[in-house]
Amino acid sequence: MPPNSKNLRWHKGSVSRKQRAELLGHQGCCLWLTGLSGAGKSTIARRVEQLLVERGVHCYVLDGDNLRMGLNKDLGFKPEDRQENIRRVTELARLFVDSGAVVLCAFISPYRADRDAARRLLQEDFAEVFIDADLATCEQRDPKGLYQRARNGEIDDFTGISAPYQAPENPELSLDTGRSSLDQCADQILQWLEAQGLISKL
Ligand code: ADX
Repeated sequence: MPPNSKNLRWHKGSVSRKQRAELLGHQGCCLWLTGLSGAGKSTIARRVEQLLVERGVHCYVLDGDNLRMGLNKDLGFKPEDRQENIRRVTELARLFVDSGAVVLCAFISPYRADRDAARRLLQEDFAEVFIDADLATCEQRDPKGLYQRARNGEIDDFTGISAPYQAPENPELSLDTGRSSLDQCADQILQWLEAQGLISKL
């Protein structure tokens, strides 16, 4: 336990989540998109964000590359750094959810234990979405040229090449980006949110 934590006290605000939900017309939640680099996490998250905003839903994407350029720029790709990356993002997502937003987290998040820790913190506000594309597919896409560089030994600890990816065992949703189009994947997420009563049907 950090040395000063016994001197801290949580300040509870007087605005409830119910009040915030009434204001926005929907509840907050966290959709956690996990998958290999190049699987389509960010692309799908951005498409869903756009569709949700068009429907009047307050929505925000937290994206691995972007967060690593700011809040998490001190972190690398060793297991303990990825764990800390996911821990910070989970805490951030918790604040967003508390504010009433639908948060889409797009992170490789390769370790099951780290994703399970996010689920434990966010509880019923958390849903895991497996962006399922196999290594061969992602490596063929290689949108940032990173797989090629990892194969050449220019990038250490690269997920799928020299670092593991532990696929989800019981995700709330699984999207096969090799078979389904971007719009079909986005639609599956919207349908799931509707089925959960988190957003209203059109
Ligand atoms: S995570 O594993 O900690 O969840 P995160 O999603 O934040 O990763 O960042 C992944 C992004 O960092 C990739 O999309 C890629 O652009 C970049 N990247 C750079 N080095 C690596 C690496 N060694 N392994 C995976 N991704 C890397």
